[in-house]
Amino acid sequence: MAYNLTGIPNMNRRNFLHLSALTAPALATQNSFASKLAPTKPIVLSTWDSGMAVNAEAWKVLVKGGRSIDAVEAGARQIEDMQNCCVGLGGYPDRDGIVTLDACIMDHNANCGAVAGLERIKHPISVARKVMDTTPHVLLVGNGAQQFALQNGFPKEPDQLSDDAKKAYADWLKTSEYKPQINIENQPKGGPFAPAFFPDGSPNHDTMGLFAMDAAGNISGGVTTSGMAFKLHGRVGDSAVIGAGLFVDNAVGAATSSGVGEEVIRICGTHLVVEFMRQGLSPEMACKKAVERIVKRDRVKAKTLQVGFLAMNKKGEYGAYAVQKGFVFSVKSANENKIHPSKFLL
Ligand code: GLY
Repeated sequence: MAYNLTGIPNMNRRNFLHLSALTAPALATQNSFASKLAPTKPIVLSTWDSGMAVNAEAWKVLVKGGRSIDAVEAGARQIEDMQNCCVGLGGYPDRDGIVTLDACIMDHNANCGAVAGLERIKHPISVARKVMDTTPHVLLVGNGAQQFALQNGFPKEPDQLSDDAKKAYADWLKTSEYKPQINIENQPKGGPFAPAFFPDGSPNHDTMGLFAMDAAGNISGGVTTSGMAFKLHGRVGDSAVIGAGLFVDNAVGAATSSGVGEEVIRICGTHLVVEFMRQGLSPEMACKKAVERIVKRDRVKAKTLQVGFLAMNKKGEYGAYAVQKGFVFSVKSANENKIHPSKFLL
């Protein structure tokens, strides 16, 4: 595959790095430009603009020569610690008013762990890591996941909603209608399915998916979320499902997803993206083909929902694609520290 260094005619690498340093962190204007940056490692990528803070935390591990698995856990914990966010215990509840968390983690040896429907535990990503590191299993759910967490020293948090979640839930109860729509342009902020969680007015988000390649070239990934707002109690999304919300193959690359998890599960989304990269597609094209598969299945329905894929190959080249406008991702390496808009199909 031929990638030039900058994607800009007559711009050499030195000038480009100078420009990059002047403008970072900044929103890149063209994703094609982003995907042509010089490959580098270590590197960490996360979904959404909130990924900037997540990447910063992961970077502290990577820059010291740490392992990618430790970096992704540290990054995911950062956003789980936030209270006004759709990830972690500050997130929106299910239709019964209960916050249930999904998370998964996967390392360069295809070791993986996951939890689903986890209640009152602050760091589902670390519980998923514990499942991976200390049990013969991959996925623990509901009460069993919580029991495992408590037995392993994770404290039980108070049974309460964040102020934002409380308000949104009260609003939602007026209609009790479940219509998952995420980050579709022109959707009013603050509606029940477009929560504006951030006081600075930054776009709404759902899942935090991230992956990192460390200095040794090993790739790991993680995902954490409170899932779709006002879901049925017991519903599990793509974020707890290896091959749906996250997949890592250290010989090929990694992919993660955000958006309506059911659509991602139906096509084994991130596994599909990694397989497309194995066949030689660039990360961006691999994501695009997965998005096309979702849209082709039901184009009318696809117009009402959002799914975004983010991928990186073994060379550290990356790209993203979404069903609709609105998906962005964050990248941190020695070369850049930026938010990039994803291309989109519809
Ligand atoms: N992508 C998050 C979810 O569907 O729960």
